[in-house]
Amino acid sequence: MSVDVSNIKISPVSKSKIDTVDFDQIPFGRVFTDHIFQAQYKNGQWGDMEISPLEHFSLHPSNLALHYGQSIFEGMKASADKNGTPLLFRPEEHARRLNRSARRMCMPEFPEELFMEALTELVTLDRNWIPDRPGSALYIRPLMFATDEFLGVAPSETYTFVIMLLPVGPYYSKPVKLWADTEFVRAVAGGTGEAKTAGNYAASLLPSKMAKDRGCDQVLWLDGKERKYVQEVGTMNIFFVFEDHIATPELDGAILAGVTRNAFLTLLRAKGYDVQTRKITINEVMEKGQNGQLKEVFGSGTAAVATIVEEVRYKDEVIKFDPEAAEVGPMLKQTIEDIRHGRQEDLHDWVMRV
Ligand code: COI
Repeated sequence: MSVDVSNIKISPVSKSKIDTVDFDQIPFGRVFTDHIFQAQYKNGQWGDMEISPLEHFSLHPSNLALHYGQSIFEGMKASADKNGTPLLFRPEEHARRLNRSARRMCMPEFPEELFMEALTELVTLDRNWIPDRPGSALYIRPLMFATDEFLGVAPSETYTFVIMLLPVGPYYSKPVKLWADTEFVRAVAGGTGEAKTAGNYAASLLPSKMAKDRGCDQVLWLDGKERKYVQEVGTMNIFFVFEDHIATPELDGAILAGVTRNAFLTLLRAKGYDVQTRKITINEVMEKGQNGQLKEVFGSGTAAVATIVEEVRYKDEVIKFDPEAAEVGPMLKQTIEDIRHGRQEDLHDWVMRV
């Protein structure tokens, strides 16, 4: 049976597959809920909006996104409060960033109101999939990609936008070791580093593999021009807790403007910390790490929340941090978890009840 809610046609599954999932052991990114939202862009407008059982796509081999990477995505989370009401964390911020990515990649924007409506309907339908284990959440993956069947290098005239939902556990289960790479770069100002687009992640795979071969977990990206300034790490923004202030690299046109980064800056300022967004050189990090003026390092991201860094390697230098001594990262992680579960009311405008 199909019902129409506003412009979205909803066709629910006849039987949910939720009983097949072990919620105590959910690998990140491999378990999907029952339904998917889809919308199609053609003739200059979005239409054919529907929520239906999640199924495979059928694509022509000339699909433009496969060849030239016109593809953008978001990563966001839903949790439930103590009454089981689904809560979305800062969904408008993600809708806006998706549209900034769309503009950079010469793709159509997806209207914010429609984004919120699709998200609300989808999360409501699959609300039973929101995990309640600590550190777990319903990860939301909006994705837009070109669908023209055309091998010319030109913006597609047709696109698909989807939203998938995945119950997830923690992205990193332990503190991470970072490799500051002097060979490869993630992005340069004027490039696509500020956009959440597929190619940025593809370009990170080889350096990440090389970091792993060297016994590290993630790459600490340095700037593309001088290999001097720290930018971000793996799939996260990065924070440094110095003895008299906290700093994160300023957005320089190459760094992704993380929604969690922004939340951490707001929370830290509200708690009275001296927080700076500024240029941070790798030499400052290594020097202050060696002489004890750098107390703690952590990454921030939707999937990763706050991930403690236990080691940074740069050329033949190594600095180490005791994960047990970390204070600011764990405090922020707990605060974000509390807000996401509706346990902290003073920042309730960051969560949307659905
Ligand atoms: C997120 O934190 O949501 C990300 O985008 C990371 C993802 C690539 C796993």
